[in-house]
Amino acid sequence: MRLGVGFIGSGFNARFHMLGWKGVRDADILGVWSPNATNAASAARYARELDVGAAKAYKSITEMVADPAIDAIWINGPNQARIENVEEIVHAITSGKGTLKGIACEKPLGRNVAEAKHLLKLAEKAGILHGYLENQAFAPQITTGHNLLWKRGAATTGRPYLARAAEEHSGPHMPWFWNGALQGGGVLNDMMCHSALVVRQLLTPPGDSLSTLVPKRVTGHIASLKYTRKEYAAQLKKRMGVDYLKTPSEDFASVTIEFETPDGRIAIGEATTSWSFVGPGLRLSVELLGPEYSMKWNSLESGLDLFFSREVKGRAGEDLVEKQNAEVGQMPVVASEAVAYGYEAEDRHFVRAFLGKEPPILTWHDGLDVVRLLMAAYMSAEQGKTVQFPPRGVDTFVPAVAQGTWKPR
Ligand SMILES: NC(=O)c1ccc[n+]([C@@H]2O[C@H](COP(=O)([O-])OP(=O)(O)OC[C@H]3O[C@@H](n4cnc5c(N)ncnc54)[C@H](O)[C@@H]3O)[C@@H](O)[C@H]2O)c1
Repeated sequence: MRLGVGFIGSGFNARFHMLGWKGVRDADILGVWSPNATNAASAARYARELDVGAAKAYKSITEMVADPAIDAIWINGPNQARIENVEEIVHAITSGKGTLKGIACEKPLGRNVAEAKHLLKLAEKAGILHGYLENQAFAPQITTGHNLLWKRGAATTGRPYLARAAEEHSGPHMPWFWNGALQGGGVLNDMMCHSALVVRQLLTPPGDSLSTLVPKRVTGHIASLKYTRKEYAAQLKKRMGVDYLKTPSEDFASVTIEFETPDGRIAIGEATTSWSFVGPGLRLSVELLGPEYSMKWNSLESGLDLFFSREVKGRAGEDLVEKQNAEVGQMPVVASEAVAYGYEAEDRHFVRAFLGKEPPILTWHDGLDVVRLLMAAYMSAEQGKTVQFPPRGVDTFVPAVAQGTWKPR
């Protein structure tokens, strides 16, 4: 049996999933809907060129859900469209226009807890399987290290106690990411979702639910290190149309999460993210430490480096690594990025889950948990102190950055 998949959104992330799809069996990308028909048609053509399905553009989400060829939807629209996208899917199902086996949604599930809870309720109302798309949880270096470390190290000398994760690059590619109200925050909302989940995953035995590790205390920190400097704010205004001197968002965030393990011990997750990192390109890094073992991964230590002398006049591009910052000198290359960052294994898993071959490893419950942790981190950062988890009021909290009232100093 094969799964016919429809995509909502035709941008950067949708195309990353399409690339990863080359390593996915038993499923075809058959549709794309995006508000701009030309972009939808272009993404559908890209899927056909990659030979990952006979994708065509649909005129509406409802039309895509109603097509019996479509069994599942992958949501890759911008954060601010999440609710309207899911409402339309669920309405198409509950009004009898179509049926689906599953619905997979990109991070963040919602821009705050109230939105994430609403989305989870909608999925439950539709009565279909839901998957939370967190690619880094499926990155081969992370899953392989995680499995081996627990199997050999933790099994004989005790569970790990400290996990670190970081995601850093020089800033997002589209204006809406820089708009706190649209996106839901700054880099904390955009990228800490990955790192906060990965540290919890690494500290949890492979195969166990992340909920077995209970967050107890959260300490968050946010700052604007680069883009509120006058020259960079001006650059951003020109490139992205946002006024960072009036409505800034954070380009640096860190969080320390103290978890309680099922045997009553403390384990610590440290995560840091930034849009103010200038290096060759996107850098993902991870460490896991236990009593007699450790693990480390840095995506820019890729094993492949190219060198171009100053005589090489290259055009700006992202052909060596995502969010590439240079075209000359020594540059690491991440070969098969869609594999390295986890998209391929993630999509393979959710296809199998929606075909009923295995339970989804991450659901919208996990997506909601992540949002609650992020909002606790914002609350801690705003209050300048560690908060007990869950902090009072977290379910109705909207970060100052998202309200346009944040003052970096
Ligand atoms: N897992 C990751 O590492 C990762 C990376 C990038 C983005 N994302 C997430 O993926 C989603 C898409 O991000 P992106 O980078 O592709 O952004 P993008 O701006 O490149 O693409 C967004 C797409 O959504 C379409 N769109 C616009 N309005 C819409 C609407 N009302 N409904 C549905 N689609 C609409 C746009 O036309 C565009 O095709 C976001 O939620 C983002 O947080 C995840």
